[in-house]
Amino acid sequence: MNPCCKSAAAILLALVAAGAHAQRAEVIHWWTSGGEAAAIKEFAAAYTKAGGTWVDTPIAGGGGAQARTVMANRTMGGDPPTAAQYNYGRQYEEIIKEGLLIDLNDIATKGNWDKLLPEKIRNAVKVNGKYYAVPINLHNENWVWFNKGLLAKAGAKEPTTLDEMFVAMDKLKGIGVTPLAIGGQGWQEAIAFRGVLLATGGQELYNKTFKDKDTSGPGFRKTLETFRRLKGYVDAGSPGRDWNLATAMVIQGKAGFQMMGDWAKGEFVNANQAAGKDYGCFMAGGPKMPYAIGGDVFVFPKSKKKDAEVAQKKLAELMISAPMQVAFNNRKGSIPIRTDVDTSKMDVCAQAGLQAVKEGRLLASDNELLTPDAKGAFEDAVSKFWNSGQPIDDAIKSMASALKR
Ligand code: GAL
Repeated sequence: MNPCCKSAAAILLALVAAGAHAQRAEVIHWWTSGGEAAAIKEFAAAYTKAGGTWVDTPIAGGGGAQARTVMANRTMGGDPPTAAQYNYGRQYEEIIKEGLLIDLNDIATKGNWDKLLPEKIRNAVKVNGKYYAVPINLHNENWVWFNKGLLAKAGAKEPTTLDEMFVAMDKLKGIGVTPLAIGGQGWQEAIAFRGVLLATGGQELYNKTFKDKDTSGPGFRKTLETFRRLKGYVDAGSPGRDWNLATAMVIQGKAGFQMMGDWAKGEFVNANQAAGKDYGCFMAGGPKMPYAIGGDVFVFPKSKKKDAEVAQKKLAELMISAPMQVAFNNRKGSIPIRTDVDTSKMDVCAQAGLQAVKEGRLLASDNELLTPDAKGAFEDAVSKFWNSGQPIDDAIKSMASALKR
């Protein structure tokens, strides 16, 4: 049977046959919002149905910094979980170097992953030509979400670019509604910043910044000016706010817009709202913008426990199987990682993402281009600029030195 079409039942049977019924799988992840929890439950339910025991270890903290710290400490300390979530890119490079992860090459070959995954995504997942992680979705962090009813009430045109969003936000101000819901945490501020960067200078400026580490041009300066302009549309409750609470403000009509990855769509789905009816979306860089490759993988630390590797590989196969890809991603807000599943029924926002993939409009993200250390330092510099009156020249300098770390 073609691996693409292997049914969920077949995968589940294989799990049982492999002795997964005896297997306890402890899975570390950072999916604690309503939409995220509903999405991971799809995996947990399928694993449980196969007779396995799913032990859920969610570590709160959007963006996952806290979860990754727990994972690193436990793995280095000799008490690894069965599986752990990371983003694409360089976050798990260190633990590979330490020899702490199993490689998944045999199941990747068997499952034809090289064929299933678009080339740029393959490159984002593989390290030194090997699969140490199973990719499960494609997220794009550079989305903008809006409440359609509120915009109509304010007489604002639905935007498709950041420039148009500023016009709409002025109208929302006019009716006394918070125009922009931002969660004031470094990683969220940085998402808004990168959205503005793409809107200002597209792929070229993005690569100049994160690949060439060059912040000297007028495009970067303009990005800082526009980013600062956003601050005038944010409510006083923003500092420290979790991302999903910012999404809830848009869902409940307390704010017009949020700039956030499409995991926010999981919250709209969880609240039974429909894309194109209750809420709208556009990509921060405009309709033709490249899709910065984001999303999630699971890695599987080596374990001394008997049969652990068998269960780990079966879990990986389950996660990337066609039926799970549909079930999981519909809840998560992301799009399936494999190109051979039926996506025709996905919503209008997902269709825009699928079109970007089809056209190869994919961009290596900062997670791939920067070490976690440099990325963290850059985000700290962005946050400092956002939360203070720091002069633009000083911010450019500190962002430049962060990138070069
Ligand atoms: C991202 C991750 C998403 C979502 C988000 C908010 O890093 O890729 O799946 O969980 O963080 O926590």
